Amino acid sequence: MAIDFHWRLPSHGEPSTHRNREPYRGDWFFGNGQPGSHGLSSRADGFSYIDYLGEIARAAEISGFQGGLIPSFPSTDEPWAISAFLAQQTRTFRFMLAFQPGFLNPVTAARMTATLQRATGGRALFNVITGGGGPSQLWWGDSVPHDDRYTRTTEFLDVLRGVWQGGPFSYDGKFYQVQDAGLAEPLSREEFPEIYFSGSSDAALSSASKHAEYYLSWLEPFDQLREKFDRVKQRTDLLGRKIKCAVRVDVIARATEEEAWAEVRKGFERLDPAAIARLRERRGGGDSVGASRQGAARPLTINSYKDLIIEPNVWSGFSLLRGGQTNGIVGSYEQVAERLDDLVQLGADAFILASTPHLEETYRVGEEVLPLVKGHR
Ligand SMILES: Cc1cc2nc3c(=O)[nH]c(=O)nc-3n(C[C@H](O)[C@H](O)[C@H](O)COP(=O)(O)O)c2cc1C
Repeated sequence: MAIDFHWRLPSHGEPSTHRNREPYRGDWFFGNGQPGSHGLSSRADGFSYIDYLGEIARAAEISGFQGGLIPSFPSTDEPWAISAFLAQQTRTFRFMLAFQPGFLNPVTAARMTATLQRATGGRALFNVITGGGGPSQLWWGDSVPHDDRYTRTTEFLDVLRGVWQGGPFSYDGKFYQVQDAGLAEPLSREEFPEIYFSGSSDAALSSASKHAEYYLSWLEPFDQLREKFDRVKQRTDLLGRKIKCAVRVDVIARATEEEAWAEVRKGFERLDPAAIARLRERRGGGDSVGASRQGAARPLTINSYKDLIIEPNVWSGFSLLRGGQTNGIVGSYEQVAERLDDLVQLGADAFILASTPHLEETYRVGEEVLPLVKGHR
């Protein structure tokens, strides 16, 4: 079986991390916010953060990755615009656009995506996200309750698929109504993008089973993940469809296991103790089932980085080092590949990997780890 590998583009910039505290060349906040530091670059050589994303995308396409996830948070740039920039700088790199359906009109989204498909030879993919509630949801002006957000996502994808065929397509849903809509030729002849679908709640699984090609999860304890993948596959079978599964996970891979854990230790020892204390108490303020499933295995007593090892080569302190998801894989090149193989055994068909700093790590993971994974194409 061929396993697909994607990388992740840091569309929030590459700030100094806890492992490397120096200002970094891909930083989003060039000029440290000084007056006059607007625009893309304040460097004498003009090298900008967008150039840096281009370097990462090119590195990914020549070292074994099919494409990359472009996340979408209040703190990131906008994925469609980023993709249009990077399409000119890459040949095969596929753009996985993260977006919350609720914030776009589905007919507009269909047209934007078909245009991108036409301009790039079909290199667009979707990461459909439905939001984690709380203050960050209100930032977008969205106060729709959790399960209704998934109803809206399902309807959005119904309409997107419907109008993509060229129409005339009519729809009368709770959130969307269209009449005799449809993409014009030649846009309607473009390939509909594959959908990676994120969300761990029951409502998410229902929506994924109707529309997704790939059900996408953060890394969870392996048994828990196997159970979730089985559940989504069973639900999709009931609809007479097939779904694949994918894992989005950060890795720290080095030539030896000792070197990999030394990276973790270096980052952990530089942490502010208050950040570790906050980790124990953290509630997040949202309604994301996925986020609480991820953190559930994390121990409450944290005196050393070793306390956060929840399975062999799985460390649950990644959010401390660089924000974002909790669990990641740490080990030698061989060990990281073996854990990815374990994930394939429990149902994964694709991965979205990441590690910082992104550019160097694209080459390292692409050249040292991917060839060791058995199903790598
Ligand atoms: C792999 C993955 C990537 C995600 N990327 C984003 C993102 O880029 N932007 C965002 O706002 N939320 C992102 N999310 C969070 C989802 O929007 C959503 O909050 C989460 O999956 C909660 O849904 P649930 O309650 O069904 O688990 C992501 C979630 C997963 C699993």
